Amino acid sequence: MTTADKLNLEKLDAPLGAEINGLDLTKMLSTDTVDAVLQAWYDNQVLVFRDQELTPQQLVDFTAQLGEPGRPRMPSQTVRDIIPDLPPEIMIVSNVRVDGKPLGLAHDGEMWFHSDMCYAEIPHTATLLYAVDLPSEGGNTMFADMYAAYDNLKLATRDRLEGSKALQVHDYKRTERPGVDLDLSKIGNFAHPVFVTHPETGKKALYVNRLMTARIEGFDRQESDALLEELFAVGEDPAIIYEHVWRPGDLVMWDNRCITHARTDFPHEERRLLRRTTLIGTEAPR
Ligand code: OGA
Ligand code: MN
Repeated sequence: MTTADKLNLEKLDAPLGAEINGLDLTKMLSTDTVDAVLQAWYDNQVLVFRDQELTPQQLVDFTAQLGEPGRPRMPSQTVRDIIPDLPPEIMIVSNVRVDGKPLGLAHDGEMWFHSDMCYAEIPHTATLLYAVDLPSEGGNTMFADMYAAYDNLKLATRDRLEGSKALQVHDYKRTERPGVDLDLSKIGNFAHPVFVTHPETGKKALYVNRLMTARIEGFDRQESDALLEELFAVGEDPAIIYEHVWRPGDLVMWDNRCITHARTDFPHEERRLLRRTTLIGTEAPR
């Protein structure tokens, strides 16, 4: 039996991603199954598990079978006050407000393409999002294939940027380029290679994004902006994007080393709530 049969895996009708329907994620998986899920993840970059019924702890337990779960860098006190028994590995991604305070992070509306924690020296490798409450429309998550982006770059651009690093920053915006007057002492930031090699697949990926990449080192501002615009255009080409339309009970897992993701707008007065875990990384992108 092939891995695909065992997992009941079907490639999505999209440039990337696969749906896995043979697994109940509340159960402990065998080592073989865990290996098969990880291999499917390396092969497809985004995995979609539909119709899962997971408590917060079950989401953490599933995550822990795949690797070491990360913890949110800045746990929201509001959410801890309201849900005291929420496992520390869970981040709530939501626009819901309680007494005017946001319950979660990354709350309202559209969000530009980014790679989670690219501003950290050792970003978390995986992000897992589990859908609980969804708006009637929008709030889709888009995933862009950064291997394909690298392959699609002009050779001259690749040559020019080989060995370059880009400054990645976290200045808490959702739809704005990082400012020119960043105070780096106040925000998470790290310079990573513009092109990275995935440690498991050995494939090269573009590692810049519109939301968090401030500039390319070694170029003046204008040149850096022009180069970044060129890279973003290739990295956001609809031909390399899968747009996930959420259903309650969906668990989606992506690889921050070879995927950027973004969110479409949604009615701000409607509830949207997802629970999120991550897997930690062990090495800086290189
Ligand atoms: C995230 C994120 C997108 C979404 O949790 O890192 O970018 O669709 N979420 O909410
Ligand atoms: Mn994100």
